[in-house]
Amino acid sequence: MKQIRLGLIGFGTVGKGVVRNIISNGESIARRTGIRLEIARIADIDLERERDVSVDPSLLTTDAKEILHDDSLDIVIELIGGIHPAREYVLTALRKGKHVVTANKALISKHGVEIFETAREHGVDILYEASVAGCIPVIKSLRESLVANNVLSITGIVNGTCNYILTRMQQDQMTFSAALEEARAKGYAEADPSSDINGTDSAQKLAILASLASNSWVDVDRIYVEGIAHITQKDIAYAAELGYVLKLLAIAKFGADWVQARVHPALVPGDHPLADVWGVHNAVYFIGDYAGEMMFYGAGAGERPTASAVLSDIVDISRNIKSAAKKRISSLPETIGTKRLIPINQIEARYYLRFTVIDKPGVLAQITAILGEKEISLSAVTQKERHPKNAVPVVALTHVAKEESIQAALKEIDSLDVLKDKTVMMRIEERE
Ligand SMILES: NC(=O)c1ccc[n+]([C@@H]2O[C@H](COP(=O)([O-])OP(=O)(O)OC[C@H]3O[C@@H](n4cnc5c(N)ncnc54)[C@H](OP(=O)(O)O)[C@@H]3O)[C@@H](O)[C@H]2O)c1
Repeated sequence: MKQIRLGLIGFGTVGKGVVRNIISNGESIARRTGIRLEIARIADIDLERERDVSVDPSLLTTDAKEILHDDSLDIVIELIGGIHPAREYVLTALRKGKHVVTANKALISKHGVEIFETAREHGVDILYEASVAGCIPVIKSLRESLVANNVLSITGIVNGTCNYILTRMQQDQMTFSAALEEARAKGYAEADPSSDINGTDSAQKLAILASLASNSWVDVDRIYVEGIAHITQKDIAYAAELGYVLKLLAIAKFGADWVQARVHPALVPGDHPLADVWGVHNAVYFIGDYAGEMMFYGAGAGERPTASAVLSDIVDISRNIKSAAKKRISSLPETIGTKRLIPINQIEARYYLRFTVIDKPGVLAQITAILGEKEISLSAVTQKERHPKNAVPVVALTHVAKEESIQAALKEIDSLDVLKDKTVMMRIEERE
């Protein structure tokens, strides 16, 4: 039996889950792997808080440096979150020759290159499965199971908070704010949910997945991001009538020398595998050139699901240590190239448009003339209400068009006298 000594920094939600898992499942992990995991040290700045998991008090410290400089530890588990001091802790651990496991998407998406290069220089492993989509093994699948594929696209629902809010808005006609309040009350949204709602959290996860899939480094700050705070019941209802559901999607598409990476609300047709992903669940839909379509589904957050992913990384590294084969699978592709990131205005998609117009003859003709000049054709148009002389909604779906043409057309259309409000535009993501 190989004994592996673990130092845990951050005894919060996920940290507790890791300790609880080792207490409850350590024996079966040992039988399965021949490895006995030992929580040897735990650091957290607050040791007074009630944690409903019992540990020997002598293992606890408030000073993370006691873990970073303890040469008897094999693996450091960083579960404090955020950039500082997590970055410094991770880099110090790697430089001290310790393997690292982290769940920190903010850190990996921002400082991944520095961290992975430091790990490579010092001949140690760093794994980060829990940083994307909780318990779902998406990173392991990209690095290992799909290694023989060129991944053509990744489309993910990777933020449970937003998916919960959109679910309640679509299935129960709740407003955005009421659904957000409920998500908070149920513990599905943080006290400050802005990075979930504005799409930043999804973009961090997408940067990690897109980098792995493209053999290049996708800069999180260059990903196009739109959140869900502006979504209204009206558009949800019109989209549903047309056979679509609304999801916050993290989308990456790949070519030989380019990458597309964007996060935004999108309409997906009812028969798309992602259309049936509801509540706090996450799902990631991949297309590989050999594997074809695949969808991974499960819990994207929470103490136990996230701990499950952290433990998977701990066991992976422990197996490497046991067989003296560290760095068997590199954290990122061995050779990192550069690929062009396609700006949002260069993408092509179908679009949902809702115009708010004065209800009088000739208005639609004015709009379609502008769209026609930009080579945008419509696949469906419906006027939703009739109020002579008042503003009414007109909903249209386009055939595939260039985003820059759509933007240019909407600029012209919105300046017409007959337009009474800014046109609502949402992208449609078809099943490939
Ligand atoms: N929760 C999830 O469902 C989930 C899912 C996927 C990934 N993750 C990731 O997992 C990581 C941990 O998340 P979490 O939800 O467990 O966070 P959390 O509940 O806030 O736990 C973090 C713990 O670390 C402590 N801490 C903060 N700075 C510290 C420092 N310098 N030294 C020692 N301890 C420190 C915090 O203490 P104080 O509370 O006193 O500040 C807290 O107890 C994050 O990177 C997060 O993005 C979480």
